[in-house]
Amino acid sequence: MSKYISVAIDGPVGAGKSTIARAAAGKLGFVYVDTGALYRAVGLYCYRKGIDMKRASAVVAQLDEISLEIKRINGTQHVFLNEKDVSEEIRLPEISMAASAVSSVPEVRTALLDMQRIIAENNDVIMDGRDIGTVVLPNADVKIFLTASSEIRAKRRYDELRAKGREVTFEEVLDDLNKRDYDDSHRAAAPLRAAEDAVVADTSGLDFEQSVELVCGLIKERL
Ligand code: DC
Repeated sequence: MSKYISVAIDGPVGAGKSTIARAAAGKLGFVYVDTGALYRAVGLYCYRKGIDMKRASAVVAQLDEISLEIKRINGTQHVFLNEKDVSEEIRLPEISMAASAVSSVPEVRTALLDMQRIIAENNDVIMDGRDIGTVVLPNADVKIFLTASSEIRAKRRYDELRAKGREVTFEEVLDDLNKRDYDDSHRAAAPLRAAEDAVVADTSGLDFEQSVELVCGLIKERL
């Protein structure tokens, strides 16, 4: 058994996983790991190269050229793709879709697995993603499946993008989110689903602070 504590937080797009998990990790003194950033970096690489990401073999052929690193700068996670910090670029909406596409390729998932496990073996972590409680850390001390209604999740994502000055409509954001959730939960490799021993936390009626309190409470209760 690892001497470090691991908390797995999974859930659909826009459930607030990253902001809530980051805040909870800050409060509890854990390292926050955003695993979606790794899939986004692979997606970014393929997107830049104009790879047809629906062709798994084309994506797999890129893997040897991709080196990824997670570094912590002033307490914040940064992702390096072939030695370059791509933490900003990976947040673009077109890269969200690319990340979802490459994440359905089993070889991509395998390539990223060890990296995620090694971090959890060496730190107290709160790790968020889609398959953390089911595949990456099946023995996590605490598993939380964070969710909210799709309208609320889309509204949060819409507000975030508008605040960054992106010209998007609510309908576009909702469609995008529903499509990504559908693809993420219907792929054969490590689909998005709650682990059997996960506690489901619905943040639909909660604001940010309340959601952080809920998650911290669930973690403390189980440790
Ligand atoms: O959490 P995110 O939106 O940054 O993730 C981007 C995509 O990566 C998401 O659509 C599905 C995929 N992903 C995954 O398959 N497994 C994870 N552990 C994290 C993300």
